[in-house]
This record gives sequence, structure tokens and C-alpha cells, in this order.
Amino acid sequence: MISVLRRGDARAVADTAARIIAEQVRARPQTVLGLATGQTQELVYARLVALHAAGEVSFGKAAFFSLDEYLGLAADHPASFNAFLHRHFYDRVDADPARIDQLDGAAIDRETEAARYEGAIAAAGGIDLQLLGIGTNGHIAFNEPMSDFRSRTRIVALEPATVERNSAFFGAGERVPSHALTMGIGTILDSGAALLIAVGKDKANALRATIEGPIDPCCPASALRLHPRVTVVCDEDAASLLTKP
Ligand code: GLP
Repeated sequence: MISVLRRGDARAVADTAARIIAEQVRARPQTVLGLATGQTQELVYARLVALHAAGEVSFGKAAFFSLDEYLGLAADHPASFNAFLHRHFYDRVDADPARIDQLDGAAIDRETEAARYEGAIAAAGGIDLQLLGIGTNGHIAFNEPMSDFRSRTRIVALEPATVERNSAFFGAGERVPSHALTMGIGTILDSGAALLIAVGKDKANALRATIEGPIDPCCPASALRLHPRVTVVCDEDAASLLTKP
């Protein structure tokens, strides 16, 4: 079931999303959080950092798993999702480094790495709250259209539009990876709850397909309608093509 919270702008979206996450962590300090990257999430992390600085939430007992990582990028590459999460979140709150797990995009044996990650999530008791963004093509994490709804953590090829959008994080002339390691749709559906953030007109089509279109691999995010607890927080631009209030 998906409940939709509409907000006026990106700041209000980030504020609502951060409060939902903070509330979960306050209620259960040892919460296992699944974390997303992307431009949409930057404001969410900024709000979480502010809530932490104001003494409203501690992440010291929480555990963290990131959704995905580029293949072939070392964890310390500035455009890696690992570096993103350190820069915007982990290094600015009281996250315990021993409780941060991430996919190793530079692993030699990628299949073993994917299986290790699934095992680590299970050993942590599963993800309690999974933060998600959405691609303009409806992807969640790096599960591009036609991904199997039962898919687990694995190697995937990225669509050209995804590579193009994410090139903003790479230097001019730098090669953007064409493949990634990502949690699968099945992995995401196993989470206790999911929180999807969508901001801007370029997400409106994907959000409509997610919420009102057929539940179909053409729109990977539509799989979230099979999940019992999903909250979508979106701005008016992203919600502009929704036909139901
Ligand atoms: C990236 C990430 C996704 C993210 C999406 C949207 O490719 N793998 O997890 O949700 O694209 O990103 P943005 O917020 O920059 O639009």
C-alpha cells in the first residue's frame, strides 16, 4: 500500500522525509536504514544532519546499507555512492563506522560481493526503513525497466539516460560507469517500510506510472504497490500528473 504526502517544494519534501526517518530512529535506535543517493536526497540528508545537530536524533546505534554502487569505482572515488553518503551524511552525524555497510564496486568477484551483501542484510535482521529515489524511467536503486520483481542484489547495465543524468557527479570528460551493483527489487520489497522521495516535473511521468499505472516491470517502482508499507513524499511538480488527490 502506498500513501502519498504532497508538499509545496523540495525543502518541505526533505523536511517531511527527514522527520519520518528521525522518528523511526528515535522509536528504535538500532534501526537498520537502507540509504539512497542522488540529487533529490541531498536536501534530505541536510535536514537529517540539522536534526542531529539540534540534538533531536542520534544515529549512534543505527545500522546502514546503501542501495547501490557503480561498478569499477573504488569506495574513495568522489563520485562513488559510498563517498556521497559519507560526504552528505555519515561523516556529519554520529554514525558508527562499524555499522555502515556498502557494496564494494571495485570487488574482483562481484557475484560473491552481491551474495555477501544479501547475507549481511539478513544477518542485521533486514532493513527496517528503506529510503528511495526514482529515476525518470521509473527505476528504483539501479533496477532499470524490465528488472525482475524478485531480483536480488546483482550486477546491472545502466540505461544511457541514467548514465547521462548521473554524469553530473563526475568530472568533465570523466567516464561514467555503464554498470553497477544494486539491491534487487525483491531485496527492496523485503524491507519493513519504504520511503520514496520524488521532486520536480521530470519525475511526474514516473510517479504517475508508479502510483496509477499497471504494476509492471516497465515501471520498476510500480513494484512498490506490492509492498505493505510505502510512503511517497513528493512536491507539487512531481505530483502534477496524478489524477487522484
Ligand atoms: C540514481 C540512483 C537512484 C536514485 C535515482 C534518482 O541513479 N541509483 O537510487 O534514486 O538515480 O536520482 P536523482 O535524485 O538524482 O534524480
